[in-house]
Amino acid sequence: MKTDVLVVGSGIAGASAAIRASEESDVVVVTEATRPDETNTGWAQGGVARRAPDEDADAFVDDVIEAGAGEGDEDAVETLVREGSRVVDDFLVEELGVEFDENGDGFDLAREGGHSNRRILHHGDATGRAVQVALLRRLAESDARVLEGHTALELVGDEGVDGALVVGDGDAFVVEAGATVLATGGIGDVYGRTTNPPGATGDGVAMAALAGAEVEDTEYVQFHPTAHAERGFLLSEALRGEGAVLVDGDGRRFMDAYHEDGELAPRDIVATAVHEVNRDGQAYLDLSPVIDDGFADEFPTAYENLTDEETDSGLVPVAPSEHFLCGGVVVDENGRSSIDRLYAAGETARTGVHGANRLASTSLLEGLTWGLRAGEHAAENAAEPRSVDREPDAFNGDMPEGFVDTKFDRLQKVMWEKAGPVRDEDGLREARVELQRLRGEVKSYARGRLSPELHSLRNAVVVGLLIVEAALENEETVGCHRRVA
Ligand code: SIN
Repeated sequence: MKTDVLVVGSGIAGASAAIRASEESDVVVVTEATRPDETNTGWAQGGVARRAPDEDADAFVDDVIEAGAGEGDEDAVETLVREGSRVVDDFLVEELGVEFDENGDGFDLAREGGHSNRRILHHGDATGRAVQVALLRRLAESDARVLEGHTALELVGDEGVDGALVVGDGDAFVVEAGATVLATGGIGDVYGRTTNPPGATGDGVAMAALAGAEVEDTEYVQFHPTAHAERGFLLSEALRGEGAVLVDGDGRRFMDAYHEDGELAPRDIVATAVHEVNRDGQAYLDLSPVIDDGFADEFPTAYENLTDEETDSGLVPVAPSEHFLCGGVVVDENGRSSIDRLYAAGETARTGVHGANRLASTSLLEGLTWGLRAGEHAAENAAEPRSVDREPDAFNGDMPEGFVDTKFDRLQKVMWEKAGPVRDEDGLREARVELQRLRGEVKSYARGRLSPELHSLRNAVVVGLLIVEAALENEETVGCHRRVA
């Protein structure tokens, strides 16, 4: 199969890139998802931040830079805030018709940790789903050819990237492309304990790294402070924005001891506090200040996931959980990677916006802004697709029973214990040895086999190693990278 632009992924970054590129080029989208709730975007709860009508853009810029511990790239942040705010209105609201919640004065703007203003557009606490459904509707109306339930296994090409080897429907084939955009979402399965949907294995980051692209800032893994401690689902920061508080096992609030903004402190500070309280006891999110008659309508996702006992008492046990990779494939202002004909957008990319930590509700904004930019640039500059001399091996997914699951268990255990919310040098060195061994075992099995599960496992191990190597190199505690020794 041949195309001008190949897009891998169909969350907000991939779908935006594909929609924009298809306005002037032939586009193929390869996506593992078959339903909107299978993407990271579809699971996003909080919302989309954009400059509030009455505020100076600089206030938003400052919040993004401060949340990123001063490590962000100012030009990229300016683009995020100024252009991002515009495309939220023009593309999401006007063109796609996403219905964000309104009150009598216009949009009902929420506030979350690290924001100095109410500026977050939301759709209850299921914003990502509303955005994803609208994107897929628009993508279906476009001329892009969408291959659902398909997996890109690896990038192909000798000088730059000429497309990808793809499997799906029991078949393996090469998509030859003039430009390739990677937008595969999160890395949750590298840790197991995650707010991401199943299947988030950092495929784009790993494929780009294996092809020789520059990858940076992978030590900056953001842990969300309030996932359910036992059942794992996310309790949106918007709950704290509306008044929910964090308490210890004795019902005492503890966030004021960590930061003057209490529960609305930057996410890494709240995550560290919850992690510390959980070392000797259990932290709870006390929802009683927000549980009223409107709770089920305002926070339908939380409401559906909580038990009657939890909504009656208001107390929900919480723990940090892997949420977002701030680093990734290094890209410029148009989503171009360091390799010819390869782009990345969304969580796969390192645009420089997040620095050492990400401000709440900026991931959809970044995916949208860089997705549209990458799609437009790729379409305008796509070279003639080059022929790829690669006969894919026959499709062969046979493996000993439990092979992939057992290796994932080993990966996730070592990543959580040695490269999780708190890291030290000895632990990181041990993690590196274990991951190198795992990589060797997986590599020898992957040879001659075309199995999406095996490639996802390989990708997750590659991403784990990228995180561990970067975490070892950076001896300072900064943003969401916390080194204790
Ligand atoms: C949340 O709803 O707490 C997550 C929002 C985000 O990660 O930006």
